[in-house]
Amino acid sequence: MSQGKIPIADVELTDEEIAAAVEVLESGYLVFGPNGEEFEERFADHVGADHAIAVSSGTAALHIVYHAMLEADDEVLVPSFSHISTASMLPMVGCTPVFCDVDPDTYTIDVEDARERITPDTEAIVPVHLYGNACDVDGVVELAREHDLKIVWDAAQAHGTEYDGVDIGSIPDAVTYSFYPTKNMFTGEGGMITTSDPDLAEQCRLLRAHWQTDKYYHPDLGFNYRMSDMEAAIGLEQLKKLDDMVDQRRENAAYLTDHLSDVDGVKTPRVEPEVNHSYHLYTVALDPAAFDIGRDAFIDELDERGVGASVHYPRPLHEQPAFRDRLGEKELPVAEEMADRVLSIPVYPGLDTDELATVADAVADVAAEHRV
Ligand SMILES: Cc1ncc(COP(=O)(O)O)c(C=O)c1O
Repeated sequence: MSQGKIPIADVELTDEEIAAAVEVLESGYLVFGPNGEEFEERFADHVGADHAIAVSSGTAALHIVYHAMLEADDEVLVPSFSHISTASMLPMVGCTPVFCDVDPDTYTIDVEDARERITPDTEAIVPVHLYGNACDVDGVVELAREHDLKIVWDAAQAHGTEYDGVDIGSIPDAVTYSFYPTKNMFTGEGGMITTSDPDLAEQCRLLRAHWQTDKYYHPDLGFNYRMSDMEAAIGLEQLKKLDDMVDQRRENAAYLTDHLSDVDGVKTPRVEPEVNHSYHLYTVALDPAAFDIGRDAFIDELDERGVGASVHYPRPLHEQPAFRDRLGEKELPVAEEMADRVLSIPVYPGLDTDELATVADAVADVAAEHRV
């Protein structure tokens, strides 16, 4: 059991991970190299895609894929309830994010709302598997087919998530991941692109490293978004235990749901029957009418009971000044409401039974004390 407060995430490197990183340091081969190549091969195998391209972050993965798949002035459908980078990399390649509302139960892109925002300039859709819960994959694929849209799945939070028994990393056209330390698996900074389209994979590889085809020869322009070999060595160790870590997250989530689903005013995660959620985050939504305190005060009370909680995300993207200034005011009522109502509580694999009980009891206690 951890000392003091139970944090929202707990990042620890095992002896094997430290040894793998030290081995790379001792070899002196610090840039993308043999570990990177092996990591790509194993990650592609793991998710069931033909290609994986390791990069320096989840944001870099999105930037590269958008650059490869889109043209300036394209409009792209994105959920407003996500991490900034899902949308911020679009203007970076000259495209316009078209913010869509989210489903009130899963907080992932509302396909019908997205459908209404399609124009002749709409080129792509970027659904997010938020918190590790898969979005409506069938709905998105059908919409994309009907309107000839490209699909980039933002799976930064969804290593190990399955839809209809299939790993979401294998679904076309391209999938992007983050290996930030709190994610289901990490490398430090890091990201990955998976795809089974060989041309797209080749473009992504070239964009990752200055479009260099021979030493100091560049038929086109690219970035330096390589993953270091030390990060890849850590990623290889993490990948070996990804399935076990995700299973542990699922077990912890089942415990929390079991103990919280009857707590009035606290809505536990909704998981559709097709989805095997990977629980990067365990996020509940509070009914504001049920309590005499708001969400932020609820979090303070959890903190007083030794339980860390956080909000993903307190402001929908269309209300971020960076987008409001570019795109003007918009109203997306569900995204706005959820930004005021959600809070995430600890679900990471290292939690022991006592800690899980502390987390569940703290939520139930605060709810009971403040119910109106
Ligand atoms: C949904 C989503 N997309 C993209 C990213 C960006 O990943 P990174 O922090 O590795 O750049 C994140 C990171 O939290 C994320 O949650």
